[in-house]
Amino acid sequence: MFCGLQGTMEGDFTGKEMYHLNFDPKGYFNMYKSFGLSVSPGNDERLRFILERLHKTFALDGIRGDTLIDIGSGPSIYQLLSACESFKEIIASDLLEKNREEMQKWLKKDPEAFDWTPMVKYVCQLEGDRETWPEKQEKLRRTVKQVLKCDVTLANPFHPLVVPPADCVLSSCCLEGASKDFPAYRSALKNVASLVKPGGHLILVIPLEATYYMAGQSKFSDCFVKPEMVKVAVKEVGFDIVCFENLNVDFPVALSDVKAFGFLVAQKCNKAEVATGKAKE
Ligand SMILES: C[S@@+](CC[C@H](N)C(=O)[O-])C[C@H]1O[C@@H](n2cnc3c(N)ncnc32)[C@H](O)[C@@H]1O
Repeated sequence: MFCGLQGTMEGDFTGKEMYHLNFDPKGYFNMYKSFGLSVSPGNDERLRFILERLHKTFALDGIRGDTLIDIGSGPSIYQLLSACESFKEIIASDLLEKNREEMQKWLKKDPEAFDWTPMVKYVCQLEGDRETWPEKQEKLRRTVKQVLKCDVTLANPFHPLVVPPADCVLSSCCLEGASKDFPAYRSALKNVASLVKPGGHLILVIPLEATYYMAGQSKFSDCFVKPEMVKVAVKEVGFDIVCFENLNVDFPVALSDVKAFGFLVAQKCNKAEVATGKAKE
């Protein structure tokens, strides 16, 4: 059940209503994205893990292409910092208008926008020169071409828009919060996976064995998933697993009961392989 501390009739709200009513972008940013100032040391370690894996995936392992779609971006841009060097165009997306507005503020250099520079500098350092962070910010601003509404519970998450399948779809910590149970998670995964071209890649950052996380004053349910569950679900929707790595974390219960974060890269099988049952076990 989705339970918001601010909701008085929590059982009456769907997950989406809980996000619309109670998700606080600033509270979320302060709790999870203040790199170097995080409320929990485990959180900085987690952010380094994600940024390093994304750097490796795009810069070193060479996953690149024309278009990357980020699903459930929230108010965040950190997950796109490496991708903007490897894709000509990025489409960011989220269910909530308030999150899309926060992203637009950063894209438009609004003085009220969240300050992502500590993470921008860290990624520039990974790429070889920490001092290039102003150019990196400009590159990302140029590469994010659209910030769209999306809903992963819909067969076409961009309904009524039709967005052409992308070379890569990325989603960080979204599907678990959007899904009330594992069948709903598998369905959301199928919807998101449909946005990847045959031969293209799916990248997921996954809170493992979590049942809740806090954002500001509100509590949001996470669908409990273990690595094997995710891997099986990803294969079921026609992908081969390229890699899956874990980082164990020790978050305070006031933040989340998450046990680890998973980083998964998978490649969509070509239609012919799926049709003839050649998808790898
Ligand atoms: C934990 S935040 C993750 C944000 C961002 N990806 C990050 O890593 O910082 C979860 C995000 O999922 C979004 N979300 C929740 N339900 C959704 C749905 N049904 N479809 C799309 N996004 C959804 C929320 O609005 C929120 O921005």
